[in-house]
Amino acid sequence: MSIPYLRAAGTSLVLDARGTGVPVIVHWGADLGDLNGAMLTTLADTSVPAIAPSSIDVPLRLTLLPTLAQGWSGRPGISGFRPGRGSLAIDLRLVNVRSGERPMGRFALPGTQTLTLLLEDAAAQLSVRTELELSVQGVLRLRHTVRNRNTTAAGAAAFELGSLDVILPVPGRARELLDFTGLWTHERRPQRSTLGHGVWSRESRHGRPGHDDSYLMVAGTPGFGFRSGEVWCTHLAWSGDKRAWAENSALGFSVLGSGELLAPGELGVAAGESYSTPWTVAVYSDAGLDGLSSRLHPWIRSWSTIRTPRPVVLNTWEAVYFEHDLPTLARLADAGAHAGVERFVLDDGWFTGRRDDRRALGDWFVDPVTWPSGLHPLIEHVHAAGLDFGLWVEPEMVSLDSEMARAHPDWVLGGVPEPSATETPALTWRFQRVLDLGHPDAFAWVFARLTALLTEYPIAYLKWDHNRDLLAGSTHRQTAALYRLIDAVRAAHPGVEIESCASGGARIDLGILERVDRVWTSDTNDPLERQEIQRYTGVLIPPEYLGGHLGAATAHTTGRTSELSFRLATALFGAAGIEWNLISASAEELGQITEWITHYKRLRPLLHFGVVVRADPSDPALVLHGVVSRDQNSALFAQVALAAPRDAVPERMRFPGLAPERRYRVAPLLLGGSPRTIQDTPPAWYATLSGSAETPTTPADAASGRGSVTLAGAVLTLVGLPAPLLAPEQAALFAVDAVD
Ligand code: DGJ
Repeated sequence: MSIPYLRAAGTSLVLDARGTGVPVIVHWGADLGDLNGAMLTTLADTSVPAIAPSSIDVPLRLTLLPTLAQGWSGRPGISGFRPGRGSLAIDLRLVNVRSGERPMGRFALPGTQTLTLLLEDAAAQLSVRTELELSVQGVLRLRHTVRNRNTTAAGAAAFELGSLDVILPVPGRARELLDFTGLWTHERRPQRSTLGHGVWSRESRHGRPGHDDSYLMVAGTPGFGFRSGEVWCTHLAWSGDKRAWAENSALGFSVLGSGELLAPGELGVAAGESYSTPWTVAVYSDAGLDGLSSRLHPWIRSWSTIRTPRPVVLNTWEAVYFEHDLPTLARLADAGAHAGVERFVLDDGWFTGRRDDRRALGDWFVDPVTWPSGLHPLIEHVHAAGLDFGLWVEPEMVSLDSEMARAHPDWVLGGVPEPSATETPALTWRFQRVLDLGHPDAFAWVFARLTALLTEYPIAYLKWDHNRDLLAGSTHRQTAALYRLIDAVRAAHPGVEIESCASGGARIDLGILERVDRVWTSDTNDPLERQEIQRYTGVLIPPEYLGGHLGAATAHTTGRTSELSFRLATALFGAAGIEWNLISASAEELGQITEWITHYKRLRPLLHFGVVVRADPSDPALVLHGVVSRDQNSALFAQVALAAPRDAVPERMRFPGLAPERRYRVAPLLLGGSPRTIQDTPPAWYATLSGSAETPTTPADAASGRGSVTLAGAVLTLVGLPAPLLAPEQAALFAVDAVD
């Protein structure tokens, strides 16, 4: 029918949608420039491959929905069956293509180019609508909607969907893969592999993406890094079970695929009904992983609910755990207020009977023993100290030891056997079970409790937690109900901000991100762990969403002790907060924290809305990352020693993202004291700043030009500066400001 050509921000996509076959993506990658109709026709014509020996007798094309019927023996784009009639040979035909800029709800963003394809298989009585859009930032989104067009007889007419996935071609040179795995407190561990013939598939059956979520599936040219290489990546915007894969077929095609992971029988599409896949978000870059972020972050910001710099949070969890009492919490709020904290978040432990993690989830009433006058006295105190108030909830969960479970055992996902029954009870996890949000009464009850709390109390913020895998029920139904619940709470209380937490970072994806204002990146506040977790989580998610807290000197999750300067430098690059009993902090520490918060507030327009950059280190022990303002006027960088360096004198610090032709003043920013160095003499340029590297550089110093060196952007990016010899687990911060 046509050859649509979409172009934006250095990316282009050409679709061969001529004839009645399922359309073929002829090109997704670097921008091809101006191509007129004749040139596009030639491109599409010349994309038809040879016919290999011992193969089908027509050229094999990899379509948008490849199936066996097309000769594609790789993973199919769609599969399913009609009960009692065996598996279905699905053979779709193109019926219609519509293009243009049309509204798509919240994502009706100016300049977004869209295509809608309608495909039908008359014999199978199915149709598929494929929506494809390219944003002005170069971010591609695709999804399919399958409709069961059989309306004859109810039972026999059902279509049991096996899978419906978005499959995108990548060139053969993209044979190095990067995806992620992880554990509790160790999320987003990168893993690299080389794609040979076959499928590299990552699957989540947690009912949430999980700590080991694949997160991004990146295929790139060998050796790609943060700043170099061609990369193609996909992410599924879905918070339930999912799979993401890369396949290199011996037929000669490489693809990236993603979709919801459906259990057998989980998704029956009734006659006349339809099912839509989650959106697959896909990005190409010719400038490595930073190139992906440079498209994803502005795109996310274009629809984000975040409009203001993120407040400094004080969270009570690692400060007091379940030991809630008004005088202590009031003192904590006061200590935070003196340091400049802006939001006080009362974590787990405030509701009826919740003294530990074994009981009470579901009983979302303020505990009358700990809080005889409700939360009012605490909130009034917090407000009087100048902070707003946030509250922890875990609405999708229920403890068997709760009034809710005793009254409504049928609301517990997977059921609760009678005490006398012989059946094995379903597994608990952190001593809790999952509330069946798909049950209309359970949904209504939890919605009513949340809105009652939000109505009774001036709550600015909910920390919405989710601390176990589902292990029962339909994760599709549960995830869809979760989205409905958050949407309903937000609609009823539009001013309330929400943080998504799932035992730390086990539910960070673009499906949840549409609905929240912050994500809890990880349960670890250990800065050494956090450096890596934040670096890789930040490839997809902009820093203003990524909660990062200053914890106690000895991290509760690792037992590792870190210096204050390293903890402060790490928590600075995100939505910063504190999760430490400040009542026990020394006067000196409180002074340094106060100074840190002052700098954070000054820097957050840069930190929260700038361009994230990460250098490619030749020594993995040394990491340099930063944020550069969009106008390239200012930047903040951190040189981080994760471990002992490889070389006595490390390679120079090269600062990416600066304007080459401009001149910049570079000044160390000392927070929480100087980073520890192990050097007989610092680099000459560093030693001369303010006379000594040990002397803090204040904004006044920087303004007067003291304590700084001035160099061209090209020099800083391409040549760099000798690094101070940081001891392991130290970070040095550098403020970089244009002088002309
Ligand atoms: C797990 C979260 O990740 C923690 O931050 C804390 O909120 C606890 N749950 C509370 O139970």
